[in-house]
Amino acid sequence: MLKLENIKKSFLQPDKKRVPILDIPTFEIGAGEQVVLIGPSGCGKTTMLHTIAGITQPDSGNVFLDHVELTRYSEAARDRIRADKLGYVFQTFNLLPGFSAYENVMLGMTFASKKKSPERARKLLDQVGLSHRLHNKPNQLSVGEQQRVAVARALANRPALLLADEPTANVDPGNQQQIVDLIKASCRSENIALLIVTHSMEVAEQFERVDRLDELNLVVSHAKAAS
Ligand SMILES: Nc1ncnc2c1ncn2[C@@H]1O[C@H](COP(=O)(O)OP(=O)(O)OP(=O)(O)O)[C@@H](O)[C@H]1O
Ligand SMILES: [Mg+2]
Repeated sequence: MLKLENIKKSFLQPDKKRVPILDIPTFEIGAGEQVVLIGPSGCGKTTMLHTIAGITQPDSGNVFLDHVELTRYSEAARDRIRADKLGYVFQTFNLLPGFSAYENVMLGMTFASKKKSPERARKLLDQVGLSHRLHNKPNQLSVGEQQRVAVARALANRPALLLADEPTANVDPGNQQQIVDLIKASCRSENIALLIVTHSMEVAEQFERVDRLDELNLVVSHAKAAS
């Protein structure tokens, strides 16, 4: 359901030098498959997730998401496709501060073509254990609770793929386990494919498939081989 082909991405650095960041010949995830992505800081994990989500356009190569060739579309069209097909749990949550937990999940449904469903928003917040905090704004929630709102929001549109960028980086080990269990179970129950980035070996060990980006990404693997 996700396929990357010959993805290359470079960034112009402040000194005007163009520096290659990604060179991924191939990467695939099957429908409903759960994959953990690991690799040292700076090896391109967030850049890869942004490329899969169509937030960043690669210099060359193709991203196929649920049979759609995302990389062929304009930024506005990619935004629409993303709203329908993809959930994204950002490392820093990106919740809207002026809105309650419930409103944040409802807003997650705004840009998708499916009808907004207050029942689903409530059900998801119940599922993440926040039915007693529906009307709290982010600054009235603990960090772990904000993280769980972000998970509920990312699942709001029943995406085909959920991307989660270090979703447990800001919580204690007990909550870390809870959030991972929650993400895995929610994806499994709705056959949502999952790509989760982590620095935690305890989290990685809970997945059957663990991919190392520093091996998949030729920019990094070649640099390592040369040093
Ligand atoms: N907009 C940008 N302009 C220039 N360089 C960038 C930009 N975004 C990322 N980079 C560079 O790309 C490289 C990969 O960054 P990325 O955020 O993808 O790493 P990461 O693997 O997610 O790291 P971490 O584990 O620390 O989150 C870094 O060297 C970073 O400096
Ligand atoms: Mg990152």
